[in-house]
Amino acid sequence: MKIKSIREVKYLKGKKVLLRADFNVPLNADGSVGRNEDYRIVKTLPTLKYLIAKGAKVIIMAHLGRPDGKVVEKYRLDPVAKRLSQLLKKKVAKSNQIIGNETEAKIKAMKNGDILMLENVRFDKREEKADKKFARTLAGLGDIYVNDGFAVSHRDQASVSAIQDYLPSYAGFLLEDEIKYLSEALKKPKQPLIVIIGGAKMETKIKVIKNFIKVAKKVLLGGALANTVLHVMGISVGKSALEAKMFPEVKKLRLIDNKLVVPIDGVMAAKNNAKKGRIDALADIGPDELILDVGPETIKLYEKIISSAKMVLWNGPMGLIENPVFAKGTIALIRILAKSKAETIVGGGETVEMIRKLKLENKFTFISTGGGAMLEFLEGKKLPGLKKIITN
Ligand code: 3PG
Ligand code: MG
Repeated sequence: MKIKSIREVKYLKGKKVLLRADFNVPLNADGSVGRNEDYRIVKTLPTLKYLIAKGAKVIIMAHLGRPDGKVVEKYRLDPVAKRLSQLLKKKVAKSNQIIGNETEAKIKAMKNGDILMLENVRFDKREEKADKKFARTLAGLGDIYVNDGFAVSHRDQASVSAIQDYLPSYAGFLLEDEIKYLSEALKKPKQPLIVIIGGAKMETKIKVIKNFIKVAKKVLLGGALANTVLHVMGISVGKSALEAKMFPEVKKLRLIDNKLVVPIDGVMAAKNNAKKGRIDALADIGPDELILDVGPETIKLYEKIISSAKMVLWNGPMGLIENPVFAKGTIALIRILAKSKAETIVGGGETVEMIRKLKLENKFTFISTGGGAMLEFLEGKKLPGLKKIITN
């Protein structure tokens, strides 16, 4: 596998570089980008600074939310451009359209080292359809294409994949790092490898679990998806929500040979927004209770297993972390991994936010910006956004 890196481009001075970024970040109630939530923007800075230093003209394409092919005011990219400008300590020009006269005039006015952000590419319905004509028009704005939006690279869309048919295409530094670390975990992990999978939906994670159950020493489960597994194993989970359509697939997992490890205790409550929880062994859950976090015995067990690891791969929280009452399991796990000597690779928006709140991001080997993209990569899928960038 070879990654075509932006480093390979010799002459960037004066070149118009069309850069696809994933700046799909949560916004505050006042419409601004939150402090702990700008991780995807922060992680693109090395690529942007490099291009600026080389004298390229950088035209950024990005999306925010799912505006469904029309202009939705709250999804305009102005707050993102503002945050980027603060982080870069440099003016970031912004066009109010994707393509058209305003964009063309603004590109014409660019000097070497300038940055221009186009409007949300998903305001045009042709973006998500990977429309060829639209991709060609976008391509016409630049000289080369750089993908640094790993988190959107699982989408077959005009500015992500189709555009690569019309311009020489390269990986930015973030994309390169994502591919490098996630490929290592997938193809030649350090052993013993421990994989931890949490979060809400088994449906989006079962393939990753299946993949890694073969190579990992253990796969530890947490979050709501563990409830479906517990139920299939014949353990009562009270009134916890279950993914019934996943039962047949879950039954096929190797539930009996100890590779898959499930929680042994939990934090229970009657509802998601409860003000406090009750810690107990799973055997003692009440019929009307929900399991909303892993308990301290589970954390102890997981800590012991993790202590043998040379590599840990983690995606998805251990509990319902938007309610602080049920965030303790995830926080405990973050602290365990931050102290671990193993190579630690972690992803998933909510977990990453929590790691940043705890100011522990430097204690991890690699933090992925990808949610769905990380999972699809770890399933072994070829991501559309890498089609001309990874060569064999
Ligand atoms: C994400 O945040 O998952 C990516 O930016 C992709 O967005 P999407 O899930 O709306 O396609
Ligand atoms: Mg998504």
